[in-house]
Amino acid sequence: MPIDHVLKLYSETIQSPYLHYGFWDHPESVDLDKVTLQEIKDAQNRYIEHLASFIPEDVKSILDVGCGIGGNADYLQKIGYLVEALSPDEFQKSVIAEKFDGAMTFHHCKFEKFNPLNEYDLILESESACYIKIDHGFEKARETLKSDGYLLVSDYFVYFRDGTKNPHLKSSHDKEKYLNSAIAHGFELIREFDQTENTMPTLDYGKYFIDRFINPAMEYGIYSSKKNYPKTAAIIEKIIAPKIESKLNQLELIDSDQFRKYRQYMIYLFQKKDV
Ligand SMILES: C[S@@+](CC[C@H](N)C(=O)[O-])C[C@H]1O[C@@H](n2cnc3c(N)ncnc32)[C@H](O)[C@@H]1O
Repeated sequence: MPIDHVLKLYSETIQSPYLHYGFWDHPESVDLDKVTLQEIKDAQNRYIEHLASFIPEDVKSILDVGCGIGGNADYLQKIGYLVEALSPDEFQKSVIAEKFDGAMTFHHCKFEKFNPLNEYDLILESESACYIKIDHGFEKARETLKSDGYLLVSDYFVYFRDGTKNPHLKSSHDKEKYLNSAIAHGFELIREFDQTENTMPTLDYGKYFIDRFINPAMEYGIYSSKKNYPKTAAIIEKIIAPKIESKLNQLELIDSDQFRKYRQYMIYLFQKKDV
């Protein structure tokens, strides 16, 4: 199955075992000028520590759906859970195989296509719920969980639409639709937590880094190529200008004020109920 090259890029640049936003305990006191790569990795560790605090006491087995490069699964296995991992991504499959050297059962498929041979106490969807079609996801979760099992979801949801084409309105589920589908599929919401503010410093740092380093470096590159190779630069500019425009629109995705306007980064703990 294909490779998600954006996620691969994150894993190769940040070089942490996670592909999520991280969790900042004191977001109001983060000074972007002083943030280090290590602090971003620490925030990512805190994210799974905090998320794991939502796992009910009677849980032993966990299926980590959309496991990325295995950081969450590794953490959960080390604190004593029986963990299996699932992802459709070829690159992530190879990372998991190497990292765990066979000590992690891995299912290489989309969750919607998963054929469960076991029943699990809890399904974890950490920043993967948004990739899975809402109704299919709940149907498959019902099939995969023991009775009274749990679905722990940590992801961003759209709570406000204003009819614009803002990129925050794409690639996320509508919060209300998601919660209604949970009810329709026999899942009861037993805990929730809004971690929007705790996740925003990672976005702010991404924007800070692009504004401070990437944009000036690109400007210098464009200036230098126009000066030294004016004809070639003009041809290239004509070809890539429309693409650059659409990429620049995507940068709104790392604008935390835009995020707050449209999205909430929620933790939901659902329990499967008999219907
Ligand atoms: C943003 S990453 C999150 C990775 C990891 N859970 C974490 O918190 O670091 C999204 C994950 O969802 C996976 N994914 C995408 N579509 C999926 C699907 N249909 N079923 C299951 N996983 C999917 C991606 O391959 C990736 O592993």
